[in-house]
Amino acid sequence: MQLVLLHVVIACGILLLGTGTAAQECASRANYTVRTQDELNTLTRNCTEIVGELGLVDWSGSLTLPNITRVGTITLYSGDVSSVDLPELEYFGGNLLLTDQPSLSKVILPKLEYIEGLYLDLVGDSPELYFPRLTNASSIHLRGNFSTQSFDSLRVVEKLLDICNGFSCSFYSRMDTSTSMSLSFPALERVGGFKVGGNVTTLSTPEVTTITCNNDECDWAALHLKLYGSSPIAVDFPKLSAMEGNFYIRGDIDSISLPALRDYTHEFIAVPYEPLNITLPVETGHKFLFSGNVSEINLPNLKSFSRIHVNSDLKIDCDEFWDDIKRTSGPLNESNRTEYFQCSVGMSVTYSGVLRVGSAVAVALLGMVVVGLV
Ligand SMILES: *[C@@H]1O[C@H](CO)[C@@H](O)[C@H](O)[C@H]1NC(C)=O
Ligand SMILES: *[C@@H]1O[C@H](CO)[C@@H](O)[C@H](O)[C@H]1NC(C)=O
Ligand SMILES: *[C@@H]1O[C@H](CO)[C@@H](O)[C@H](O)[C@H]1NC(C)=O
Ligand SMILES: *[C@@H]1O[C@H](CO)[C@@H](O)[C@H](O)[C@H]1NC(C)=O
Ligand SMILES: *[C@@H]1O[C@H](CO)[C@@H](O)[C@H](O)[C@H]1NC(C)=O
Ligand SMILES: *[C@@H]1O[C@H](CO)[C@@H](O)[C@H](O)[C@H]1NC(C)=O
Ligand SMILES: *[C@@H]1O[C@H](CO)[C@@H](O)[C@H](O)[C@H]1NC(C)=O
Ligand SMILES: *[C@@H]1O[C@H](CO)[C@@H](O)[C@H](O)[C@H]1NC(C)=O
Ligand SMILES: *[C@@H]1O[C@H](CO)[C@@H](O)[C@H](O)[C@H]1NC(C)=O
Ligand SMILES: *[C@@H]1O[C@H](CO)[C@@H](O)[C@H](O)[C@H]1NC(C)=O
Repeated sequence: MQLVLLHVVIACGILLLGTGTAAQECASRANYTVRTQDELNTLTRNCTEIVGELGLVDWSGSLTLPNITRVGTITLYSGDVSSVDLPELEYFGGNLLLTDQPSLSKVILPKLEYIEGLYLDLVGDSPELYFPRLTNASSIHLRGNFSTQSFDSLRVVEKLLDICNGFSCSFYSRMDTSTSMSLSFPALERVGGFKVGGNVTTLSTPEVTTITCNNDECDWAALHLKLYGSSPIAVDFPKLSAMEGNFYIRGDIDSISLPALRDYTHEFIAVPYEPLNITLPVETGHKFLFSGNVSEINLPNLKSFSRIHVNSDLKIDCDEFWDDIKRTSGPLNESNRTEYFQCSVGMSVTYSGVLRVGSAVAVALLGMVVVGLV
């Protein structure tokens, strides 16, 4: 009897502590549905954790959860969210999916460290997006008129990190944008797939070592960069040494630096719009396609490869390139050379006829490259 009483006293004590250090679940139920901020305030008055799902029905306007530190997930069932402000939230177990909101212009998550999936289409001239402590996520998909965006603490994105500031972020054409983005990922080490598209002025990825591309969200290209700036930008992945998936880069590129990528068994496609001297220290390669304004190619360590295609808009010396390849890779069979080496100068359009690539996906992609060029 005494023991039971003691338990009750302890339980009351914890409740009375209110928003103290101990996490307080919001009620016995796991899931809630609310329609207004007032309802939400009542629900969360004495607690800090929503264990299950917070469902929003007929929601209108801003959403805030002043004291909640952990939430299972938040699902918008109907309505229109204009801003999200979760000042204390550290852990978000599910997906925050707000991609079809006509007025969503602000998402503030100052203490968020983990989220499963963050899918946001932000509107307006200068959307606000703030998650300085986000360290680890499964997927991040961002669309909007971004300018400077820093992912200060982000270390791991398991599946896909995808950010684009184009009006349309489709595969094909040069993108129209209304802002230029400066993107910084100072802590990012590992990512499933990495896509950046739009008008980009800087891209900083000093710590990325691994691109895994081992999940359903990573599609044809593991590293997919479509960069259209006011001036060509440097693409520098100083520590990238392991990459499972294709590399596809297109646009206004000033330089490509991949000093740590030595063994690379996937396709490498570069289509620079501005004259570009490409030097890659790769030793073991697979398929290479260089198109657009390629002024020079150096693969000084290449020992093995299965195919190299060059089709430059600029004059490059194909014979010299072939001699360089032969010098590093050892004897190559001259009589069937066109099966694995093709180099031409001039109209990129001739590609579709020249290329005979094994996989259907690659054929489709190369088709797109050609379309993108003309
Ligand atoms: C949040 O916590 C503060 C301080 O404990 C309290 O005054 C306020 O009413 C709480 N707000 C909500 C919406 O629960
Ligand atoms: C919050 O705590 C106050 C004071 O203990 C209590 O009166 C109120 O009913 C509680 N609200 C909820 C939603 O639990
Ligand atoms: C709570 O919602 C989740 C989906 O977010 C669902 O899987 C779960 O079954 C729900 N739990 C209850 C008790 O309704
Ligand atoms: C980006 O800004 C432009 C120019 O103000 C505007 O027309 C466009 O709708 C904005 N994009 C979005 C997604 O709101
Ligand atoms: C990322 O966070 C999840 C959930 O907290 C955790 O299970 C996982 O181990 C973390 N991964 C890394 C690399 O920190
Ligand atoms: C990129 O943005 C800058 C600044 O907003 C602008 O000057 C430039 O023309 C844009 N470039 C492209 C290709 O849209
Ligand atoms: C290469 O540069 C020329 C001249 O600036 C330009 O006309 C052409 O469109 C560029 N090629 C690509 C693929 O951007
Ligand atoms: C291209 O880059 C390589 C390696 O950095 C360099 O040796 C070569 O001189 C460059 N070519 C031109 C034309 O600048
Ligand atoms: C073509 O050349 C490559 C490289 O020398 C060789 O491995 C391959 O067997 C050749 N193909 C034919 C049909 O001889
Ligand atoms: C080179 O390629 C030709 C044509 O495919 C083939 O007949 C020949 O056996 C090859 N020679 C070597 C050494 O692989």
